[in-house]
Amino acid sequence: MLRQIFLAFAAVPALRLFSHAATLPIHERDTSTGPSCTNTTFLSVALASSLPGVSIISILAREQKNVTVPATPPFSAVDVSGLNFCDVEVVLTHAGMNDMVRVAVWLPLVGSDSTWNGRFLGTGGSGWAPGLFDYNLAPAVKLGYAAASTDAGLVDPSLGYTNPLSPASWALTPSGGVNIPLLTNFASRSIHDMAVVGKAVAAAYYSKPANHSYFNGCSTGGRQGLAEAQTYPTDFNGIVAGAPAINWAHYVVAETWPQVVMHDKNLFPSDCELDAFTAAAIAACDKLDGVEDGVITRPDQCTFDPSALIGTSIQCPSSDGKQNITTIITADVANIVQQIWSGPYNWYGLEKSASLDYLANTTVSKAGKPVGAPFFVSDTWTQYFLAKNPNFDTSSVNTNEFFTLFNQSVTQYDSIIGTSNPDLSAFHSSGGKLLVWHGLADQLIFPQGTVDYFHRVLAQSSNQPHQDTDLDSFFRLFLAPGVDHCGGGTTPGAIPVDPLSAVVKWVEQGIPPDVLDAASADGKLKREVCKYPLVPVYRGQGDANDAASWTCEPDTTWQEWL
Ligand SMILES: *[C@@H]1O[C@H](CO)[C@@H](O)[C@H](O)[C@H]1NC(C)=O
Ligand SMILES: *[C@@H]1O[C@H](CO)[C@@H](O)[C@H](O)[C@H]1NC(C)=O
Ligand SMILES: *[C@@H]1O[C@H](CO)[C@@H](O)[C@H](O)[C@H]1NC(C)=O
Ligand SMILES: *[C@@H]1O[C@H](CO)[C@@H](O)[C@H](O)[C@H]1NC(C)=O
Ligand SMILES: *[C@@H]1O[C@H](CO)[C@@H](O)[C@H](O)[C@H]1NC(C)=O
Ligand SMILES: *[C@@H]1O[C@H](CO)[C@@H](O)[C@H](O)[C@H]1NC(C)=O
Repeated sequence: MLRQIFLAFAAVPALRLFSHAATLPIHERDTSTGPSCTNTTFLSVALASSLPGVSIISILAREQKNVTVPATPPFSAVDVSGLNFCDVEVVLTHAGMNDMVRVAVWLPLVGSDSTWNGRFLGTGGSGWAPGLFDYNLAPAVKLGYAAASTDAGLVDPSLGYTNPLSPASWALTPSGGVNIPLLTNFASRSIHDMAVVGKAVAAAYYSKPANHSYFNGCSTGGRQGLAEAQTYPTDFNGIVAGAPAINWAHYVVAETWPQVVMHDKNLFPSDCELDAFTAAAIAACDKLDGVEDGVITRPDQCTFDPSALIGTSIQCPSSDGKQNITTIITADVANIVQQIWSGPYNWYGLEKSASLDYLANTTVSKAGKPVGAPFFVSDTWTQYFLAKNPNFDTSSVNTNEFFTLFNQSVTQYDSIIGTSNPDLSAFHSSGGKLLVWHGLADQLIFPQGTVDYFHRVLAQSSNQPHQDTDLDSFFRLFLAPGVDHCGGGTTPGAIPVDPLSAVVKWVEQGIPPDVLDAASADGKLKREVCKYPLVPVYRGQGDANDAASWTCEPDTTWQEWL
């Protein structure tokens, strides 16, 4: 059985524990057998006191041998087995916040066969989940990283917070106001805690600090990575931020725009009809790069007009799905798609190769009528944080209400969770390296918001002593054509294979990534993703599925995309 040592500090008044942390006993190490997994707890308590206002409630450490974490889509794609690690769980609280935050740190076991690569890795979350725990920690430990994940205090059964994928249980306080302390944990504070605690635990366990620290995340994880670069610039030497959920206060409301457009027309096209527009746009724009592969390389150059489909008849499944019925595309449906692609006047729309089925999702009401089905993140954001009413019907928001909600979101929350501060000078001067990538067929987070951020950082950095070329020395953006949200693999584009290794090489060997190796989900397409603002160009000969048949070239029109 597993050895479990639970150090129950819960009964100790938090403040007293905090003030005593620096004097906690530190056991001498038995160097002949290597450090004990259970003993690291004492050291980490002492070291975690470097977080002002944080008290450690408990620490659990146990050795884990031959552990398997089975594949669990969509969170993890492959089984990871044969893991041997020291499993440390730290529970902490912030003074006056009444929160209970869990940080898990998995450390490859020490010993003659230790697989630790000398690095610490902070891992990010997805949607409303601040961390994915085993699903992110297992592959990291397999690669030799000491890795950490946190729940940011959003999962606390003692307070009834049970579902990490929804804010329903924690967003509102009993008096009906927004729980700003927990929103702040989710926005930025807990990733910093995780970094400090995780690095301290690793240093204690291995008797020396990690040589380098990294962060890897996509979506909410990508936003967390940028929160670190902006707010806690010395936590990590290298950061990978995929499809970052930055501009949160703006883009999450803009995700509702397709629902608003459908609601205002009282018309709810089926997935089949919407997919016909995506397919037609791809058919029209795929070949602009000289290669027919189902990928729109340059969405900025795709001028396909949805009205081209008006009057076209398509075959769509009947409501029972048993047969196809002929559907004629109407001008109203084409107009809905046009508005979704354009976006509201104050934010971006979806790229034409992105699936419309998520943000323009529909369902059938109890009365048997088609109705809007808002994406769960924008739905719950609108209900809990804007309307402050769990029963608010986001699918019934009209255009005027949309803009009011949009403004409210920006006014109240941009400073907390926008995560779009362009001043990365502290991260730059501390030597950090930032790799951001975004799929150009992202169906949930608008890639132009990420490009906009890049340009804002560029503008900011040229106002400072550093000049533009310096930006390239620490921040590189890669746009992956035909890739969906975080490379989920439902689109044909080539997904960056291992951006984390690229940033490790950048930090440790000083070799910056000029391109990212990429492959499609089915392995057929091998490409290199270009560094923005370079664009991929087919050489005109050679196997188009082979990365060597493409180059990355400058094109000034790309920068005018915004
Ligand atoms: C810590 O390690 C020492 C010697 O290595 C051992 O005597 C002691 O029992 C350990 N403490 C815990 C809590 O495991
Ligand atoms: C590890 O676990 C697998 C099954 O999960 C088992 O087949 C294997 O024998 C175990 N190895 C050791 C060294 O215990
Ligand atoms: C950490 O870096 C030192 C040199 O700074 C190196 O000797 C050591 O091998 C590295 N540790 C690991 C585990 O790679
Ligand atoms: C409906 O049409 C699609 C596309 O044309 C086809 O793949 C599918 O088999 C058809 N389904 C039925 C039930 O006829
Ligand atoms: C569309 O909405 C339905 C009903 O709420 C849901 O079951 C389905 O997962 C949604 N589809 C997508 C692609 O989000
Ligand atoms: C929202 O804010 C913008 C910019 O400040 C302003 O122009 C617009 O009138 C506002 N709209 C609403 C509905 O409040």
